[in-house]
Amino acid sequence: MDHFQLRNGVLYAEDVPLPRIAEAVGTPVYVYSRATLVRHARVFREGLSALDNPHIAFAVKANPNLAVLKVLQKEGYGADVVSGGEMARALAADMAPRDIVFSGVGKTHAELLQGLEAGIGQFNLESEEEGYELAMLAERHGKRAACALRVNPDVDARTHAKISTGKRENKFGVPIDRAAAIYAALAAQPGLDMRGIAVHIGSQLSDLEPMETAFAKVGALIADLRGQGLSVTHADLGGGLGVPYKAGDVMPSPAEYGAMVARATRGWDVRLMFEPGRVIAGNAGVLMTRVIRSKRSGNGPPFVIVDAAMNDLARPAMYGAWHDFEAVEPTGDRMTAHIAGPICETGDTFAMDRETDALKSGDLAVFRTAGAYGATMASSYNSRGFVAEVLVDGDKFAVVADRIAPQAIQDAERVPDWLA
Ligand code: LLP
Repeated sequence: MDHFQLRNGVLYAEDVPLPRIAEAVGTPVYVYSRATLVRHARVFREGLSALDNPHIAFAVKANPNLAVLKVLQKEGYGADVVSGGEMARALAADMAPRDIVFSGVGKTHAELLQGLEAGIGQFNLESEEEGYELAMLAERHGKRAACALRVNPDVDARTHAKISTGKRENKFGVPIDRAAAIYAALAAQPGLDMRGIAVHIGSQLSDLEPMETAFAKVGALIADLRGQGLSVTHADLGGGLGVPYKAGDVMPSPAEYGAMVARATRGWDVRLMFEPGRVIAGNAGVLMTRVIRSKRSGNGPPFVIVDAAMNDLARPAMYGAWHDFEAVEPTGDRMTAHIAGPICETGDTFAMDRETDALKSGDLAVFRTAGAYGATMASSYNSRGFVAEVLVDGDKFAVVADRIAPQAIQDAERVPDWLA
């Protein structure tokens, strides 16, 4: 359920008609709904109600906007961060350092130090080498870093190849068959408090079974570690729950996910940790765009050229992802069209042969389910700027990220004297 609904023929975000935002802020613009974020945060938490005190850390990569993080912080969420930049954002949103989990396959020396200095709650180690480096740094600074070891369970998540992370050939984690030996070696480091196992096999999972298979492997590993006298008090089960991108898509609910987790982790006797991203933010945002004009090329349906492009919303170009596309003020007339942006490559196409609301020049439309992995994956390709982001709360809205004009990006560049 989201709060982007038609009222008297106009699409609203909560109690704000979208045309009002377009008029005030321009297009393209990302629009997020606070009520939807809150609802998703609560539904996810309720799904885990059978568990004892789960730790929930929003995967900041999905939507790092400070206002979005603040909404989730107020819901008691921590943060899963994968860079110094994301860590700084989580801290700026007043997330408690102990509620921050530092994931990421290539944490730099400087980032490890930043995490130690901030006193973040847990480092999810991606390799034995990273563990030794962190141990050395922690000892040097008189600290002990709480850590989980991320394992690669070699399970096919059955999602898009580019967002699948738990197969042996993926770069993430340590091979599960070597995990016990690595955990033992790292547990012997005075600078580390090895306290758990982390796993995340992929994103946009539409099927719980691969997760359950992975969790079973983690359960066996925990038993094995304890059998060797090692302590395991935490298990981080990552994120990955899929969301419906197409009206009518059915995805496992947080309640079904929670029931599976409760079943799969029975008897583990650990504090379970979660890193949901998309399921919280995905359907809490839309990308609003304006039709520039339509054109025909060849004999097929017309191309509707909108003012948003692949640099603003990369998912269709990058993963062939589907985003529902709707007019903000639908007339009831329908058309079949290709929906494309202005960028000079064929990949800048959001949809081909899409049956959609009839649209003409100047009309507003939205790409739905753009609240996760939307604005954050933007680039300035074709010397386009970065689009504004707006947060709606009831009948009020605020710009929560300024539009960054192409000129501002250009202003950060210079021609060296010796070339001028
Ligand atoms: N934890 C870890 C370690 C992750 O790598 C990810 C996502 C998450 C949690 C959050 O997963 P979620 O609950 O959002 O599925 N750009 C891609 C998605 C990349 C996901 C990367 N990792 C897309 O637009 O589909």
